[in-house]
Amino acid sequence: MSSTSAKKKPKVYITRKLPDLVETRMRELFDAELNIDDVPRTREDLIRALQTADVLVPTLTDRIDDSLIAEAGPQLKLIASFSNGVDHIDVEAAARRGITVTNTPNVLTDDTADMTMALILAVPRRLTEGAAILADKRAEWAGWSPTWMLGRRISGKRIGIVGMGRIGTAVARRAKAFGLSIHYHNRNRVDHHTEEQLEATYWDSLDQMLARVDIVSIHCPSTPATYHLISARRLELMRPTSTIINTARGDIVDEAALIKCLREGRIAGAGLDVFQNEPAINPKLVKLAEQGKAVLLPHMSSATLEGRIDMGDKVVINIRTFFDGHRPPDRVLPGRL
Ligand code: DGY
Repeated sequence: MSSTSAKKKPKVYITRKLPDLVETRMRELFDAELNIDDVPRTREDLIRALQTADVLVPTLTDRIDDSLIAEAGPQLKLIASFSNGVDHIDVEAAARRGITVTNTPNVLTDDTADMTMALILAVPRRLTEGAAILADKRAEWAGWSPTWMLGRRISGKRIGIVGMGRIGTAVARRAKAFGLSIHYHNRNRVDHHTEEQLEATYWDSLDQMLARVDIVSIHCPSTPATYHLISARRLELMRPTSTIINTARGDIVDEAALIKCLREGRIAGAGLDVFQNEPAINPKLVKLAEQGKAVLLPHMSSATLEGRIDMGDKVVINIRTFFDGHRPPDRVLPGRL
């Protein structure tokens, strides 16, 4: 091969529509198959991709399990996920077959933390209830009254953060600025400097923390160890005036038990951006939202154009680094989440 001959571009299969800017860059750099119509790919589509592409770029809506990975051809070298979470990928199965997995950490931190704050406020301040009144029934609004639409103040209350990683810490910084006292539970205590800055109180016992705070906010990854971490028993430990916010993954909370607690008034409210069987939403949750006991968002806490472009940049960098023969910066190792 002459030194001037062009290097063969890696064949990259992208499962969902990405922002135009990202798709254009992918086409410039790779032999990229796009999904312009954004029709979710079937299992058969994914098998075809695994047997023909060098790189699969899935998102969190694609289930890349052990049996699917078993279908991969020898040419498949990299799964460069367009997502922060990797609970949709069997990372161990990929490692066993010598397939590298990468994700897109860091770039969603602020957007997710912002939206978590929005939910922290929306539940006790009845934001969606109030907005719905003007959107649907403007004629019926009789005007301001001293005792109408009263919510509960968040300033001066305690927030308990479950999982003090990047997003949990970013939420803590915002919550502190809103006058909340920071409590947290994490596998490891955060460094002394951060704890001091946040004036944060560490709880090695999740049970103890849940029983003492006014707002619980979930920020740990979904792993077999965190499945239903917030169980029926733990929900019962929470205070009747407390609220729970989840912008992490639906299966960390026992959703059926949460519904029961909300219906029975054992906790006051929930702000949920993620659900156990997404995209299906339990109709009982929708009913609770109609009653003002829950604010439900369709998994959009990281949804900003800037964030999606940053995610695309990360995917591109991971693919390029890998094919340049280096370790991609966002490599996910089995058992490391
Ligand atoms: C991710 O990428 O894992 C996020 O959940 C997207 O919101």
